Amino acid sequence: MSRDLAELPTCTRCALSVSRQRVVVGSGPSRPALVVIGEAPGRHEDEGGEPFVGRSGRLLFALLEGEVGLVRSDCFVTNVVKCRPPANRTPSRGELSACRPWLSEQFEVVKAPLVLVLGNTAARAVFGFNEGIGVTHGRVVPWGNGRGLATYHPAAALRGGPSVVDVMRADLRILKSLAELK
Ligand code: URA
Repeated sequence: MSRDLAELPTCTRCALSVSRQRVVVGSGPSRPALVVIGEAPGRHEDEGGEPFVGRSGRLLFALLEGEVGLVRSDCFVTNVVKCRPPANRTPSRGELSACRPWLSEQFEVVKAPLVLVLGNTAARAVFGFNEGIGVTHGRVVPWGNGRGLATYHPAAALRGGPSVVDVMRADLRILKSLAELK
């Protein structure tokens, strides 16, 4: 871990440091097959300190295994915002920009050929998209030395049902084709 990242668990760069229980740094190998980036920790993640350990995570990793053939231990998993926003609200612009240097530090340390970004907020933050996820999902973009794409957040699929899951599956098949092309 770089010296800066060693300070992440005690970060006070924004007001989420007051309400959070734990900073959810992220976890996985430093040379993963895939980096997965979500929005922000929820209640279970705030309690346990690990990203995507609740219902969203179960759906996400079931879809990834089914469509791409990757399991959680193949992935480095993190969020654009490392602390839980109260009541799981969308992170503010200030919170996103306060947290951005941590993600940049992680990109310095963790190198992967592929990135998967989940949901509108993370897709805008990571890829700089101006349009919403309904337009940008499945769009292949260069990322570091590799490539990536965004899809719907699994929480949106839990709310939206099979039609959203079907779109996620199709996006993940694009991701798989990128893995096979490399
Ligand atoms: N939703 C996210 O975006 N990230 C998590 O870690 C959990 C739920």
